[in-house]
Amino acid sequence: MRITASAPGKLMLMGEHAVVYGYPCLVTSVGLRYAAMITPSDDAMVRIETGQLDVPRVVPFAQAGNAPPRETAFVEAVIARFRDEHGLSQGFLLQTDGPEVSYGLGSSSAVTVATAAALDALIETQLDKRALFDLTYGAVLDVQGSGSGYDVASAIYGGTIYFRKDVPEIEPISLVSLPLVIGYSGSKVGTVGLVAQVAALREAYPDLINPIFATMSDAVEQAREALTSGDWAALGRLMNINQGLTDALGVNTGRLSSLIYAARDAGALGAKLSGAGGGDCMFALTEPGVNQAVRESIEDVGGQVIDLPLGVQGVHVTQD
Ligand code: PMV
Repeated sequence: MRITASAPGKLMLMGEHAVVYGYPCLVTSVGLRYAAMITPSDDAMVRIETGQLDVPRVVPFAQAGNAPPRETAFVEAVIARFRDEHGLSQGFLLQTDGPEVSYGLGSSSAVTVATAAALDALIETQLDKRALFDLTYGAVLDVQGSGSGYDVASAIYGGTIYFRKDVPEIEPISLVSLPLVIGYSGSKVGTVGLVAQVAALREAYPDLINPIFATMSDAVEQAREALTSGDWAALGRLMNINQGLTDALGVNTGRLSSLIYAARDAGALGAKLSGAGGGDCMFALTEPGVNQAVRESIEDVGGQVIDLPLGVQGVHVTQD
């Protein structure tokens, strides 16, 4: 028997950083899928084979999550939670697979969610989406200590969602289309460091930074309505406002700005960075008449246009 779970990456649309402090964000899943394959074994060992490791990691399942290498830390935290909370008590082979280059679009949350869904199927816990979110987000916090979990929610629910971590509130938004062009800035950055940088700024200037988060939150609420009603002009303006606010948080870069302004100058309705900032991706909202020009101007300033389906299905599991 082999269980395969596959989960998508994500694109943060609006509300980055503020979401860490309990404000809402909007996120859509992207068709960059990662898989976790589990084959049960007769011994009590967990064997993990992943493209990030030259040699498989082999560990007694009772010790999974105990001082793991960085490459397997998230999946081992998930294994440890299934062991400690749901009585997982057997060995298995875990293989992960997916595109080598992820452009900062959520490979680690996708692999982590896929592993959780595969283990859920292995021991038949039958967790619903919300319980799967709680377990997987808990595992992510075990490893990195911070983060809103929006990427975990996106990998589980798929589609486009409105997300707030504290309840958590996870609401699907039904969309016919989302005319975006994604541009990769060419460098990947560590989210944890940028979250810490914003936390330090907030601590130094709470009376300035908290209102920025509150304004971002208002922009997210209005963007949710604009998305639902297909008011792209309004959505574009709100994206630009969000971009200005991320700049004020100190996470924008000159390189991201050049891609963003190239897209706006070519007629995009709005353009902003996506996620923690410091690098990774930006995206632009386009209309059919300007789509090609926006793509070309992003490339003219050295960006890489990434073509991916948006709003794809969340995690799913097959067995053979
Ligand atoms: O850089 P990404 O795509 O991992 O997004 C980070 C988004 C933050 O709001 C900055 C952090 C979080 O966990 O929500």
